Amino acid sequence: MNWRKGFYGVAVAAVLTIITAMQLQSKQQTILTQVNSEKWPFSLPALPFSYDALEPAIDAKTVDIHYSRHHKAYVDALNKALAGTKWSGYRLEELFAVADTLPPAIRNNSGGHWNHTFYWNCIRSPMANPGPSKKMLTLLEKNFGSFEEFKAKFKETGVTEFGSGWAWLVVKPDGSLALYASNDQANPLTEKLGKPILACDVWEHAYYLKYLNRRDEYMDAFWNVVNWQRVEELLDSAVSLPQPK
Ligand SMILES: [Fe+2]
Repeated sequence: MNWRKGFYGVAVAAVLTIITAMQLQSKQQTILTQVNSEKWPFSLPALPFSYDALEPAIDAKTVDIHYSRHHKAYVDALNKALAGTKWSGYRLEELFAVADTLPPAIRNNSGGHWNHTFYWNCIRSPMANPGPSKKMLTLLEKNFGSFEEFKAKFKETGVTEFGSGWAWLVVKPDGSLALYASNDQANPLTEKLGKPILACDVWEHAYYLKYLNRRDEYMDAFWNVVNWQRVEELLDSAVSLPQPK
């Protein structure tokens, strides 16, 4: 019967979608776990999705160059800068704890490596991408008034960052959520502001090929690729982990 074939087809497609989403979630957890446990020499983590997975919000060529050239360049430069130094036995978060004392080449490239890994870990394909859960929405409403206000303030944080940098959503030590813009490759860990749960790279290399100088349009499109399931996982782990001192 045709309706049975149709039903089974839909059911199989739904199961495959769920399995694919679970595999992606696992890969995204893995790259962050990997980068948090590594010491010199660091390696470029596998991108958890294909270059074209973020289309049309973020184009394939941008993802390719961003990952295989820019992110890789931070890893290579970090390994070179750390070689033979007293910091070569440090994990990245240990380097961030003493960021003020680090030579610029180590500080900038360690941030560049971690920030990009974090960015890949919290974005995903816009196809069948669910929005924030009821729990996440309630928390955003409590901290920012409404989901729309949160998005507007996050966008403002990134658009008004002068030059190159990042927009972050962080969990502060008191459990509240806050927005933060970092310059160059600083991040909430180097600045001891809390645990990051979402990041948007606002360096021009993250959007210029498609959006030219229109950072605001890139940030509007960014909402289509935010992996809210991953953000919530990070939120849950952040509130159960020690905060930076
Ligand atoms: Fe970048």
